Amino acid sequence: MKTVADLTEAEAVEELTRLADEIARNDIAYFKEDAPVVSDADYDALKRRNAEIEARFPHLVRENSPSLRIGAERSEQFAPVEHGVPMLSLDNAFSDEDTAEFDGRVRRFLRLGDEPIAYTAEPKIDGLSCSIRYEKGELVRAATRGDGRVGEDVTANVRTISEVPRRLHGAGWPGVIEVRGEVYLGHAEFAALNEAAAAAGQKTYANPRNAAAGSLRQIDPKVTAGRPLRFFAYAWGLIDAPFAETQWEALRHLKAWGFRTTPQSRCVHGLEGLLEAYRRMEAERPHLGFDIDGVVYKVDRLDWQQRLGFVSRAPRWGIARKFPAQQARTVLEAIDIQVGRTGALTPVARLTPVTVGGVVVTNATLHNADEIARLDVRLGDTVIVQRAGDVIPQIASVVETERPKGSEPYEFPHLCPCPLATEIVRETTASGAETVVRRCSGEFACPFQRIEHLRHFVSRRAFDIEGLGEKQLNAFYDKGWVREPADIFRLARDEGRLALLRDMEGYGETSVGNLVRNIEARRTIPLDRFINALGIRHIGETTSVVLARGYHTAADFLAAMDKVADRDPAAVEELDALDQIGEAVIEAAAAYFAEDHNRRIVQDLVAELAIQDAERPKTDTAVAGKTVVFTGSLERMTRDEAKAQAERLGAKVSGSVSKKTDLVVAGPGAGSKLKTATELGIQVMTEDEWLAMVDG
Ligand code: IVH
Repeated sequence: MKTVADLTEAEAVEELTRLADEIARNDIAYFKEDAPVVSDADYDALKRRNAEIEARFPHLVRENSPSLRIGAERSEQFAPVEHGVPMLSLDNAFSDEDTAEFDGRVRRFLRLGDEPIAYTAEPKIDGLSCSIRYEKGELVRAATRGDGRVGEDVTANVRTISEVPRRLHGAGWPGVIEVRGEVYLGHAEFAALNEAAAAAGQKTYANPRNAAAGSLRQIDPKVTAGRPLRFFAYAWGLIDAPFAETQWEALRHLKAWGFRTTPQSRCVHGLEGLLEAYRRMEAERPHLGFDIDGVVYKVDRLDWQQRLGFVSRAPRWGIARKFPAQQARTVLEAIDIQVGRTGALTPVARLTPVTVGGVVVTNATLHNADEIARLDVRLGDTVIVQRAGDVIPQIASVVETERPKGSEPYEFPHLCPCPLATEIVRETTASGAETVVRRCSGEFACPFQRIEHLRHFVSRRAFDIEGLGEKQLNAFYDKGWVREPADIFRLARDEGRLALLRDMEGYGETSVGNLVRNIEARRTIPLDRFINALGIRHIGETTSVVLARGYHTAADFLAAMDKVADRDPAAVEELDALDQIGEAVIEAAAAYFAEDHNRRIVQDLVAELAIQDAERPKTDTAVAGKTVVFTGSLERMTRDEAKAQAERLGAKVSGSVSKKTDLVVAGPGAGSKLKTATELGIQVMTEDEWLAMVDG
């Protein structure tokens, strides 16, 4: 298989299509049939490959990408919730003709005469759908869509959304109702959230939908509460009594019961009404303040909806008319080269500002040097920029007829834009093949990379030093106080510099005191966080945990890495033998520790810290070597805790039940996994029994 960096765009498209199919097939086997056909590791490899390709070609992210489909993530974090009525999706229409066909199909099916059919036309909100169950008017459970049949329990998080009533207002609601709608973030809230994340040196979200999904699926509802999520209601699932005769009437009731419904929704008649509603929505789109990606048409009469029913996974009574990607013409003024944390260089197009679908666009990504060559885009060219769902705009094409006379093909720089002007090298793969990625060869010596390294170093999943965001790092960097990780800890003890800092604008006694305390608090650090913080390519959070468990102490880890850098066969083999570690990690680790300045930087850092040993998985416990599945809701521990505890005791935790499963721990609400376990004759125990066993 080609490495991701080697793929051409056409190959990427093809492979993303194949991966989407393959992942979807596995999801069905796993979720619907509870009979996974591949191992979790193989499944994860598919997802990872998909994510890697998408990261390199963000403009190719498919709308139905497995990475955006929550159902595809076998989250262990949230308990499963079976929907009373499945949450299905809509078929798409892309043109007036498709819309006419839809209208034609509906009338043929219903055998109607000439009378135009009444439809609702509603904005298709680009967020994530959610089903909220009310019993006797009280919110009792909220779930993501999941695979449509079983979603994730996000009740605590949904309760924090102010636009979702905890108790239905008014009267006339069914005793049981699953209210369905879209959780989303507005443009302003999205921008503020990303700004705050960037300032704190944290990861930003690519678009409002991802941000909404990320915010809703937080383990800690307090985090969700801090995100200004919003909610529009537009449908319902299970009900114990009918409450309306038409969709339009149903929307009115939802509103009366305290939900927000989209004010842009209309009731229209016949094909003409459908097409007019689409044009109107297109015109309204830039002024809405939130993302929509089309118009949803629904046959208004619910008895007709009933008759029309469903074909496979979509209703015959509704369709989503999608907007085309939004485009505009502008001029390419310059190409800047940005240096990423790992030294990868990304060309960014600086454009004459232009409005694309209501958003002013001044920059667009050009991905890499090959993409520039493919487009043959030159300075001064008139270009077509495009925004499609995704917030990062891209250049779709060049208007060659308007090319300035005498323009020259763009030549990718040979020297890094950093003050060191180090030489730019083409990245090679583990096997030595050239890739499309250009990289600055300066590593830690390159100030751009250094800032990015430092930002990563202090970020939440690494050293998590509060009060030390990008702004502070830049300021300290410019003063020459913090150039590498160890400097952060040196600064905390440098009375002279701290005195200067107290006098600086924006700092004072209290904030400097807090900063010092926050830094000191992190001198003691778990080994996995320490490893993750080093920012070695391919060694992120998960791999760091694997390495920490594998080497146990910082001393052993570093000694082993030095040997790996020297290509000591035994050391390489030992690393290779760790679960989930492959060629890419080995190469990255070897390259990192082969650099003298990296070794020195790490040594200096270690001298400042007390690195906590990782617990070794036990081999002498009741569950050592066994494969355990947790299902249903756990009441005395979180999923994360349960997983960590089981792994500490030497067990392997899996998300699916198969013949290889040794033990299933089932809490309340356990469904199909419990059933499969019983059928396969696998040992099942309650959470209490599990705790008694592992504690005993
Ligand atoms: S009704 C049978 N109405 O679009 C499906 N869906 O592809 C009934 N969506 O999963 C869905 N706005 O996430 C409906 N006004 C709207 C919508 C809407 C956005 C999303 C929803 C759904 C997807 C359908």
